[in-house]
Amino acid sequence: MKKLAACLVGGVMLVSCVSGTDRKEAEMNHFVDDLMNKMTLEEKVGQLNLVSVGFDVTGPILSENVEEKIKAGQVGGVFNTFTPDAVRKLQNIAVNETRLGIPLLSGYDVIHGHKTIFPVPLGLSASWDMDLIGRVARASADEASADGVNWIYSPMVDIVRDPRWGRVSESNGEDPYLSSCIARTMVENFQQDDLSKENTVMACLKHFALYGASEAGRDYNTVDMSRIRMYNEYLPPYKAAVEAGVGSVMTSFNEIDGIPATANRWLLTDLLRRDWGFEGFVVTDYTATMELLHHGMGDKAKVSELALNAGTDMDMVSEYFLETGIELVKSGRVSEAVVDAACRRILQAKYKLGLFDDPYKYVNEERAASDIGSDDKLALAKEAAVKSMVLLKNDRQVLPLDSVRKVAFIGPHVKGRRDLIGNWSAAGDWRKAVTVWEGIENTVGTANCLYAQGCNILEDETLIDKLNPHGAMIEKKVSADRLLAEAVRTAYQADVVVAVLGETFGMSGEAASRSDISLPDNQRELLKALKATGKPIVLVLMNGRPLTLEWEDSAMDAILETWFAGTRAGDAIAEVLYGEATPSGKLSMTFPRNVGQIPLYYNHKNTGRPFLDGQKYTTKYLDIPNEPLYPFGHGLSYTTFAYCDINMSGNTLSGNNGKLTASVIVTNTGQRTGVETVQLYLRDMVGSVTRPVKELKDFQKVLLNPGESKQVNFDITVDQLKFYNSDLQYVAEPGEFQIFIGGSSADVKSASFVYENK
Ligand code: BGC
Repeated sequence: MKKLAACLVGGVMLVSCVSGTDRKEAEMNHFVDDLMNKMTLEEKVGQLNLVSVGFDVTGPILSENVEEKIKAGQVGGVFNTFTPDAVRKLQNIAVNETRLGIPLLSGYDVIHGHKTIFPVPLGLSASWDMDLIGRVARASADEASADGVNWIYSPMVDIVRDPRWGRVSESNGEDPYLSSCIARTMVENFQQDDLSKENTVMACLKHFALYGASEAGRDYNTVDMSRIRMYNEYLPPYKAAVEAGVGSVMTSFNEIDGIPATANRWLLTDLLRRDWGFEGFVVTDYTATMELLHHGMGDKAKVSELALNAGTDMDMVSEYFLETGIELVKSGRVSEAVVDAACRRILQAKYKLGLFDDPYKYVNEERAASDIGSDDKLALAKEAAVKSMVLLKNDRQVLPLDSVRKVAFIGPHVKGRRDLIGNWSAAGDWRKAVTVWEGIENTVGTANCLYAQGCNILEDETLIDKLNPHGAMIEKKVSADRLLAEAVRTAYQADVVVAVLGETFGMSGEAASRSDISLPDNQRELLKALKATGKPIVLVLMNGRPLTLEWEDSAMDAILETWFAGTRAGDAIAEVLYGEATPSGKLSMTFPRNVGQIPLYYNHKNTGRPFLDGQKYTTKYLDIPNEPLYPFGHGLSYTTFAYCDINMSGNTLSGNNGKLTASVIVTNTGQRTGVETVQLYLRDMVGSVTRPVKELKDFQKVLLNPGESKQVNFDITVDQLKFYNSDLQYVAEPGEFQIFIGGSSADVKSASFVYENK
């Protein structure tokens, strides 16, 4: 909306056309300038300090004497605390007991829901459903903002190609395009282009950058990557979030080109601010400034100097800026302008959030009572859980189950509750999660169901000892032999066995890397004993990462991947198992056959010696195929879909604004209504640099009744052909392109066209 603004300059009336946005920005700048004019250097440095108040510790220290520090004007924001009461108490101190009364940011990790917990992000990304993901983000922001939180540490958009890394569960998987779509959707729904609304929150993009490429999948490990790979494969989702207007960015723990992200001026200033135009503020990850010491970047003052001069604005938990900032400015190692810029960005964030108008805007008991855990959110949690599940295998249509047949539900996850909401479940209360057994009761009743625990979730004492200090609460209550014998007896009494197994929540997430990503040995022993009964077996999995399932794939009749599905996990699983809902998820990450294949991803390069069967000197393993067990984009339904050949609107794409349309007709050839995710991939056949064998460029979801056909059209534009060349210019190069359309990256129809740049 444009507004006419008039002002008198030197006695002359100037009339200019000022947009509403420009006016708002001018007002904000005026306000912040005014405030900063009143601030001492000490108060400015205080704004750069972020302290952890409460419950969670994800690093070595917890902030001390928080209330005194707030009173002394030494805190710009708090995190790890919520509820209107708790946040009001701290906000009161900031507003009423400090000289300038500057309100606090109040941050929290709202990763897959606040109190109503949705599937872990890797699961949610398998829905490929932006409308759903948008509603989940909206609901999360709605709950968090009613509970004292105005700033959330999400979205996490690190591209991951190594499922040994535990934080893969927080990611959207391996694909830059899918993850970019999700990044954009989440930011738009958290912030809604209007942070002054009471139910929007400022998002924090993380972990900038490349954290998902930690060597060997070990958390916090070194990253080393070429710029061309960075630009083409790892940076796009971060860029998408910045373009969507994300308000803040969190640095990653890893190094980039030998300089840790928190101290990396190229990353934070040249790339993020100069090239991408990011205008928000940058916060470190938990104690990342302090960790620069361990990276060997210098002493406390030196690393603070490096971080501030690199473009980091806010220091999470280390308190190094607070301790060294004033001296650094006085000695000239950091200019006052750098501190001013950092302080200004943080004050602008507070202004945009409306905290200067009403510091108590996000502490609203009434909203908390009505909006948190409301029926619509719980319904959304079930919907999201259903749509995230991926049917990996389903031989002889053993699924869906027939409720008149006797089904033996076996496994520690059948009645287990603690694991359902997964890791990073923030303020979620696992006690409120619905178990699989309860879900069955709610759906078809348990009259025809039998139950046996089957095994302890883990027998490995070393692993249990590592997990328990973090609240895993793993107990081995019953002897493994007794559990196994009881399970086998139960299986014999049933027509079908459903084994509900997987990881405990602590086996994925931060600091939860695994070198072996198979099911725990004791669980596999249980499956082997069940298999020996000769009964059909459905394996229902709960886990936060791709697992290696080669044996399970060969031995089980059906495998349903449910991830850690959240507060309504049990209801959703029961509905899918009994066919009240049809699975439609597609993997957003490759499932390797074994860890020796890692890193394994669909958008790899062809190499100079692509695999050729029967030829010795081609790229391959001697002991396993190159192909994964389950490829990116894979996911079955209870119905089947057929694709006709691709129909192209032409064979040539010309000029900068050219467009082609590729169409396929997809038919539901089965007996049930189902949703198919139709995926479009491109391959640039000849390039000035080597190009991937396939890259996802678009997708559409279609709902089809039995026998129904629909035409799905994809527009192909020059933008989709672009990539970063060896000079890091974003270009489309003329030549032949192949186009693939199908229901998985490995099951596609193909066609080709030529791009002419004229
Ligand atoms: C994690 C971040 C998180 C932060 C605050 C860190 O350990 O890496 O993802 O946002 O803690 O809790």
